[in-house]
Amino acid sequence: MPEIKIAILVGSLRKKSLTRKAARALAGLAPKRVACSFLEIGDLPLYNQDLDDQPPASWTRFRAEIDGHDAILFLTPEYNRSIPGCLKNAVDVGSRPEGENHFDGMPAGVVSVTPYQLGAFGANHALRQTFVFLNMPVMQQPEAYIADAGSLFDANDGLKSERTRAFFANYMSAFARWAEMIVSAAKREDFSQFMKQRENVAAAHVSGNAKPLDAIVPRTGEASFFPPNGGSVHGAEEVLSRYDQDAKSFAPGGSSSFDVLQSGADGDIGYWTGFQRADARLGDGYKKVQMKLRVTELFRFQEGGWKLIHRHADDSADRPH
Ligand code: FNR
Repeated sequence: MPEIKIAILVGSLRKKSLTRKAARALAGLAPKRVACSFLEIGDLPLYNQDLDDQPPASWTRFRAEIDGHDAILFLTPEYNRSIPGCLKNAVDVGSRPEGENHFDGMPAGVVSVTPYQLGAFGANHALRQTFVFLNMPVMQQPEAYIADAGSLFDANDGLKSERTRAFFANYMSAFARWAEMIVSAAKREDFSQFMKQRENVAAAHVSGNAKPLDAIVPRTGEASFFPPNGGSVHGAEEVLSRYDQDAKSFAPGGSSSFDVLQSGADGDIGYWTGFQRADARLGDGYKKVQMKLRVTELFRFQEGGWKLIHRHADDSADRPH
């Protein structure tokens, strides 16, 4: 299973923050496949729309840090039955400029902390309210309202009680599992959108245009192609040059479409299998050929997009000769 990257935002700026201690303890009890990093929010100037054209460097840094993570865990103290201003400011900065909500679709978790017996509920739910507009799915259960926080930690900020440790560990494994579920559902949706692009790229290819392929093939590393006329090509560069060469054998005016029998994505790997039907014109003579290929393709999400890492195409039995 690929590593899941969780950003942790702490809504207290003070050095001896109980909320930060709780955040550190939670991060330390996360499952091994989880990479937690703390995003600092204390240096973000107050959000002011006038600065959107030339944003402060810390805003740009913070937004890029959000983009680099799969999920966000918010740890918040309660100020006046709501969240501290610094945390609301961070939420506002990350959600802008207009149309560039960096939190969009990211799975979120909320843990709220108070030194009192009663508290932390108001902050927790005030933060959840912002997720509606931010379009952040938030884990519902388990909820985490950490009361009496001043008595939880020993002199080294370790958790004193086994019961709290078990609660924290359970929270982190539930959050990791839930965030993975949201991330992989989003990847599946993304892959099904990508399949339209893949089909268009194939249509361009049988019209002699290999250029659109550039966006969906890996530049380096693993790749393979088993073409209909036998043999196989291996390695990213070799495969790309073979695709280029094949495209040159087609004249403009060809068309292609996929009959997808099965398709899906899990994590960073996607696939489809089925038939590719193409009406192509070959070479200078513009000889018309109809092809019905049995195709299986594998894709990996890398270099910021889905990349074709394997194509196997052979003539289906009913190809007209
Ligand atoms: C508080 N505190 C507080 N606590 C609470 O449970 N409910 C509340 O509404 C408030 N309101 C509030 C307002 C302001 C302005 C401050 C400074 C504090 C107390 C708060 O929980 C306590 O100071 C925590 O220790 C703050 O969290 P950190 O900094 O320890 O993480």
